[in-house]
Amino acid sequence: MKIGIFDSGVGGLTVLKSLSEKYNAEYIYIGDNKNCPYGEKTKDELLKYAIRIVNYFIQQGISVIVIACNTCCANVLDDLRVMYKKITFIGVIESTINRFIKQNKNNVLVIDTNATIKTNIYETKLKEKNNNLVVTSLATPLLVPLIEEGIDVKNVLDNYLEPYKDIDSIILGCTHYKLIEDKIDRNITIVNSSDCIVDNIKDFIKPVDKLKIIIYTTGDKYKFSKLSTRIIGLKAKHIDI
Ligand code: DGL
Repeated sequence: MKIGIFDSGVGGLTVLKSLSEKYNAEYIYIGDNKNCPYGEKTKDELLKYAIRIVNYFIQQGISVIVIACNTCCANVLDDLRVMYKKITFIGVIESTINRFIKQNKNNVLVIDTNATIKTNIYETKLKEKNNNLVVTSLATPLLVPLIEEGIDVKNVLDNYLEPYKDIDSIILGCTHYKLIEDKIDRNITIVNSSDCIVDNIKDFIKPVDKLKIIIYTTGDKYKFSKLSTRIIGLKAKHIDI
C-alpha cells in the first residue's frame, strides 16, 4: 500500500508525520522546493506542478495521493479529480473545517497563503456549515519563506496577529504553519490543517506491518534534510521531476 504525499516544501511533512504516527504504510513524500512558495503562484502554475508530481506517483504504482498543501487543495484539487478518475486524492481542507466546526467557536481568524485566500475556500466552506460564524481571512505570505529557511518567525507572526483582538480561534490554513503553532501565545483554540487528515483517511489506507517512508525534494537535499531531520527524523533525497 503506497501513498503519495506532496507539498511545496517542508510543510507537508507535518501531515506525513500525523499519518505515519497513526498508520503503517509505505509513504513517498515530495517537497517541491524548486517551485516554493506555492502561495505566490497562479492556478495554471500550480496545476502544472501538481500534474508533474501526480504523474510521477502514478509511475510508481501509487493510487492514493494526499495533497498536503492547502494552496493546491484550494486551487487545483477539483481539476485533478476530473483529470485522474482512477486516483484517490485526499486534501487537507475538508477535514480541517470539520474538526474546527466541532469546536463551536464564533469568531475565527484564518491565516493562509495569498493563493488560498484568493479562492475564498475557507470562508465559503465555514459559512456553509455555520452561517453565524464571523470569519476573517488574512494572507501571511512572509511565513513560508522564513519557515523554509529555518528562521524564527515570532516577531513577524506577532505583527500579523496583533490587530485581531476579538477572535476566539485561529485556523492555520497552511500546512507549514503547524511548525510555528507553538509561537502563538494566545489562550484561544487553534486548529492546524496538518493533523485533521487522520480523521478522513482511514477508509483509504490498508495498514501494512512495516512503516516505510521515502522523502524527496525537488530542491537542495542538504538544506531540506536539515529541516526534515528536525521534523520527522529523516533525511531527503533529491528528485528531478
Ligand atoms: N504548505 C502549503 C499550504 O498548505 C504551501 C505554502 C506555500 O508554498 O506557499 O498552503
